[in-house]
Amino acid sequence: MRFSERVFCGELTPEDVGRHVLLAGWVDAFRDHGGLLFIHLRDRSGIVQIVFSPEMAPEDVCQQAALLRAEYCIAVRGHVKQRLAGTENPNIQTGGIEVLVTELTVLSESDSLPFAISDKAMVAGAASAGGGNVAEDLRLQYRYLDIRRPSMQDNLVARHRIFQCVRQFLDSRGFVEIETPVLTASTPEGARDYLVPSRVHPHHFYALPQSPQLFKQLLMVGGMERYFQLARCFRDEDLRPNRQPEFTQLDVEASFIDEEFLYELIEELTVKMFAVGGIALSRPFPRMTYAEAMDTTGFDRPDLRFGLRFVDVTDVFAETNYSIFRQILQRGGWIKGINVKGQSDQLSKNVLQNEYAKEIAPSFGAKGMTWMRAEGGKLESNIVQFFSSRELEELRRRFDVADGDVLILIADPSYAVVTSALGQLRLHFANRLGLIPADRFCPVWVTEFPLFEPTEDGGVTSSHHPFTAPNRTDFDPQNVEELLTLRSRAYDLVMNGEELGGGSIRINNRDLQRKIFAALGLTEQETQQRFGFFLRAFDFGAPPHGGLALGMDRTVSMILRTPSIREVIAFPKNRSAACPLTGAPSQVKREQLAELELLNLGGQDVLPGAAAQEDQLDRLSWVSRIGITAEERPMLEDAVAQAEALAALAAQHAGEEAPIRSVVPTANRTRPGTEEHRSALSETGQLLKSAPAVKGNYFKVASILE
Ligand code: AMO
Repeated sequence: MRFSERVFCGELTPEDVGRHVLLAGWVDAFRDHGGLLFIHLRDRSGIVQIVFSPEMAPEDVCQQAALLRAEYCIAVRGHVKQRLAGTENPNIQTGGIEVLVTELTVLSESDSLPFAISDKAMVAGAASAGGGNVAEDLRLQYRYLDIRRPSMQDNLVARHRIFQCVRQFLDSRGFVEIETPVLTASTPEGARDYLVPSRVHPHHFYALPQSPQLFKQLLMVGGMERYFQLARCFRDEDLRPNRQPEFTQLDVEASFIDEEFLYELIEELTVKMFAVGGIALSRPFPRMTYAEAMDTTGFDRPDLRFGLRFVDVTDVFAETNYSIFRQILQRGGWIKGINVKGQSDQLSKNVLQNEYAKEIAPSFGAKGMTWMRAEGGKLESNIVQFFSSRELEELRRRFDVADGDVLILIADPSYAVVTSALGQLRLHFANRLGLIPADRFCPVWVTEFPLFEPTEDGGVTSSHHPFTAPNRTDFDPQNVEELLTLRSRAYDLVMNGEELGGGSIRINNRDLQRKIFAALGLTEQETQQRFGFFLRAFDFGAPPHGGLALGMDRTVSMILRTPSIREVIAFPKNRSAACPLTGAPSQVKREQLAELELLNLGGQDVLPGAAAQEDQLDRLSWVSRIGITAEERPMLEDAVAQAEALAALAAQHAGEEAPIRSVVPTANRTRPGTEEHRSALSETGQLLKSAPAVKGNYFKVASILE
């Protein structure tokens, strides 16, 4: 077989009719027409129908073909032929032609599949053969099969195209791709670190980078001026659909620039990346301060695909007689609302009162929710009688009310409760009422974030990271109240309510950087210990610089409109941060832990089983993974001693008599005195919910015999 002659299945066209071709790929689907065998042959480029007919192929080839099954890897030679009129298949790109096979080589057979891979019907109009509803863990366990599915391949190829687009564009703008270490020291990005123990330096650990933040800034000090990297980052944090423990950032940093440089650069790049997916974005992207985003949408990552912006009506009720509002306002509270325009048909009094006011709004943290429906030129609700006509008139004016509109108001002494509850209600209404256009992409820069957030112990923590430049430098690092008024020179790129990326102009002044660490409550000693190497670099002429990182998994997933970022990652972790394919994370041998000096040997400096003088009972306890209590010890020592005596006796008489062989039935045993108990939770699957690895109704543990 000379693979150099091979042509791709999906690239054959009617112009190839009459050619003799060599194809190679996988059996996607087959249909036996009594003597005539049709097969969809699939390679990465697509599918073509190949036909085994006794008229064209020798008998042994036809016999061999009859044994082909799904996902056999084969090569065939044959003639390209126009399909007969009426037998074309519009489901596949090559549906106008087929290949009449003359030779067949089975390159590799396949077991029966854990799920269907084929998703193209062989006959025009027939339902697709695809198995759409395969459990995700099964897909991830057999990811190499999942990747054979054309939709997964399309995602990975599109990801590659987008990465290529990034590289070409940044290269054209003078950026240099530089790799930074993966075995490194902790970078503060707000998540927990993944730690890697060092064998050479016992009890010392590397941290996997949460981002290349420190190194990219050091590259600026190093005079590289424009850097980028498609960098793998690692964060041990709670998983969400748009989060992975390891993910890829497009990390960018540049010197002698300001915010406008980065807005321009990243906007142009974003437009190009989305164009790869056929999505046209227009520039410039709008900008919104953090305060405006919170005031009008309740989120610092506002979804601007639909209206429902908040209107503040606190002042409308300054003199109100409605006691609930009056009390809230007396406590310095807020009243904000949204107008769900023209939706009163969908939102009956019953739905508003019993679903939203009683259930949904409280689940979002609101203590209550006021609703009004506009009908016949009036606002109506269960409490409208408590409002003055001036208040109602002003509401109509502020919300631009027309008949059919529904007003939703949230009042609370806390600004955070009002904006958070109303923000979630805004999204709930938009989703429920189908107000979010599927094909709309609304980028927005969110700017002027608070530099710090308060911590529970009365201090502050960085909203982004501690290297972000503040809007002013004349602050007192001990004055928490003042620190909380500072704004940062940070910016997030948000699209459709999702944070795609974020960055900032950095501090390049060593004294200011020290002041920020002091504000964060780090002592000079702690600062030196954690960031001494970094601060030292600022003693040598650090240029002004800034940058940003885009989450590439999120960006690609948005461009390809996939339901989760796992669909655009070749080998992602599942929802519990595990890899069903490799079984990672997995236990390691005690020897490995001992080598890394991570094993508590209880004062002994040898592994159980590693030395002659070891305690047999500890060895047994370790091998059988059963802990032994102090009370059980004498009884078990006795049993082991008896067994040893028996073994010694047997050894003495070895060779004198034939060994006795016996088969002992095995059974699941509980300890004496413990009643066997089956939890009701096991019936519902709840019991295994947190198990690290599950198979059927069992949860997997490491093998006992080693
Ligand atoms: P930040 O922490 O905002 O900034 O991260 C930048 C972008 O990375 C993506 N991202 C993630 N994607 C998938 N899974 C995760 N667990 C995850 N965490 C973050 C998001 C996010 O917007 N060093 C700074 C950047 C800078 O200041 O230049 C940083 O990492 O899309």
